[in-house]
Amino acid sequence: MKVCVVGGAGYIGSHTVYELIDAGHEVVVVDNLSTGLKDAVHKDALFYEGDITDFAALDKIIADENRKKPFDVVMHFAAKIVVPESVKNPSLYYYNNVEGVRTLLDVMVKHNIKNIIFSSTAAVYGKAKDGVCTEESETKPINPYGETKLASEKMIGWFAHAYGMNYCIFRYFNVAGAHKTLEIGLLRDHLTHIVPVTIQTALGIREKMTVFGDDYDTFDGTCVRDYIHVSDIAYAHVLGMEHIANKNVSVIINLGSNQGFSVKNIISEVEKHYPVNHEYGARREGDPAKLIASNKRAKEILGWTPKRDLSEIILSDLEFRKKHKK
Ligand SMILES: NC(=O)c1ccc[n+]([C@@H]2O[C@H](COP(=O)([O-])OP(=O)(O)OC[C@H]3O[C@@H](n4cnc5c(N)ncnc54)[C@H](O)[C@@H]3O)[C@@H](O)[C@H]2O)c1
Repeated sequence: MKVCVVGGAGYIGSHTVYELIDAGHEVVVVDNLSTGLKDAVHKDALFYEGDITDFAALDKIIADENRKKPFDVVMHFAAKIVVPESVKNPSLYYYNNVEGVRTLLDVMVKHNIKNIIFSSTAAVYGKAKDGVCTEESETKPINPYGETKLASEKMIGWFAHAYGMNYCIFRYFNVAGAHKTLEIGLLRDHLTHIVPVTIQTALGIREKMTVFGDDYDTFDGTCVRDYIHVSDIAYAHVLGMEHIANKNVSVIINLGSNQGFSVKNIISEVEKHYPVNHEYGARREGDPAKLIASNKRAKEILGWTPKRDLSEIILSDLEFRKKHKK
């Protein structure tokens, strides 16, 4: 299939491009490089620098490409994703994440592209009641980032209804790890994700890390999350795309491991390799105690289960950071 990946120079998008190319698909990446890196784009993918909020620019790229061979699918990763930033600057988040999706959908309608894969997030669930989320759990985001992703999900649903499109919406839990080639991984100036922060501390790139809260109602008092390797997430996109395009259906699917690990578990796993200089601090506002995915639907519909466990997630990120010294 011919696939347009918007946000394909970012962390998860770039890994998905690698999986798509490995599976024999043709890939065109559109990215404004606001957080992504051109070097992260697979050499066999075609790259356009462009912004999905710019209808005219996107329209031209899609029209030019469609003349060579029409696109079958669009994948959307082109979002802003930092929760505290979304709280401080909701306008930026609504503009980029919601207006961006609306513009993209308009261009898809104009060019009759029927299939969209959309990256959503566990943040749409907010504080799930018992901490385990099925796709039927109540969606009640607690920050603008989660709201923009939920608004986009709903908008995609209405466009699909109006124009006969198919969608696959993936709600990811905590994504971590790096590609097996160590060519791509999570590189950013101000990393906030727990896995890379712990590993940077272990490698001495950071002096010390703070664990936010050790008095949660969990088995060891620290927050419990569901960690999933980025290449497992990426491969699910290949399956999701084939499923909706071949069967002419739409789905919403959680991508997680069905397992919860605490912050202390993450530190212990990293400490199998190097000591981690850490201290305990106050809870952060808005952190639920526990967030785990039920991944039953992914298994039933796509036959997908994660292939890599926590130790492999940690080891791949560790090796990536040792190589790139970041
Ligand atoms: N990283 C996670 O743990 C996680 C968890 C749940 C959901 N997600 C979702 O996955 C998607 C990808 O996240 P990521 O971690 O790879 O983030 P990222 O910042 O690495 O990637 C986003 C990419 O989109 C590009 N981009 C942003 N706005 C754009 C625009 N208007 N036009 C064109 N390009 C634009 C950026 O330059 C970047 O390359 C997001 O939609 C995010 O909501 C991520």
